Amino acid sequence: MRIIRAKDYQDMSRKAANIISAQVIGKPDSVLGLATGETPVGAYRKLIEWYEKGDLDFSRVTTVNLDEYKGLDKWNKQSYHYFMNENFFKHVNLLPERCHLPDGTEENAEKACRAYEALLRALGPIDLQLLGLGHNGHIGFNEPSDRFELDTHCVSLSESTISANRRFFAPDEEVPAQAYTMGIRSIMQAKKVLVAVSGKEKAAMVRTAFFGPVTPKVPASVLQIHSDAVVVADEEALWKV
Ligand code: GLP
Repeated sequence: MRIIRAKDYQDMSRKAANIISAQVIGKPDSVLGLATGETPVGAYRKLIEWYEKGDLDFSRVTTVNLDEYKGLDKWNKQSYHYFMNENFFKHVNLLPERCHLPDGTEENAEKACRAYEALLRALGPIDLQLLGLGHNGHIGFNEPSDRFELDTHCVSLSESTISANRRFFAPDEEVPAQAYTMGIRSIMQAKKVLVAVSGKEKAAMVRTAFFGPVTPKVPASVLQIHSDAVVVADEEALWKV
């Protein structure tokens, strides 16, 4: 696992975007695994900027997102589908039919997860998986558990995740309690993993996840044994290591 030190959020975003951009330039038909949350927004902005300058072409890229809230459709402003459209998809020349997320509108969890897992397998290994780091060490929505959940699954979100994500919802809105998430296998089978981390409130988890024991109680810790994992973190996120 390689750790790249960035000065601040801007620098972290630029460094992360550079890695994604190198992937797309080197392999124009890459399968990119994408993430939501506040952390990757700056990297998406950089990619959009470089696309607008004519330096990037996403026309042959396929994307697969890590997760989606159960019960939210793509027009719901809190859905990850909406988030990806607003923050990335609609600004670049990705083909909509090549942008995939789990289907939050499918009420039958088994069916939704089976369909997404089949899609992931059909696409083959992800070339580059972008990840954020949850406050409790989750990746995607793989929450702390007694075992690594390998396949796409429906997860009941922990109280800490629900409260961490409450900031994206209006005060009177319910944060969904369940989500569909890619499992650890697809993440670990990705040829390259890029973890973006920023801010001092992630510092303790950076130390636990990347310098502590590998355990399903800290899902991100499994990335320590990935053969090509890069963590791009700013100084605040790294101050405890
Ligand atoms: C959510 C997402 C994760 C993301 C995490 C951290 O729970 N499901 O994929 O990494 O939040 O988000 P942030 O970057 O906003 O801290």
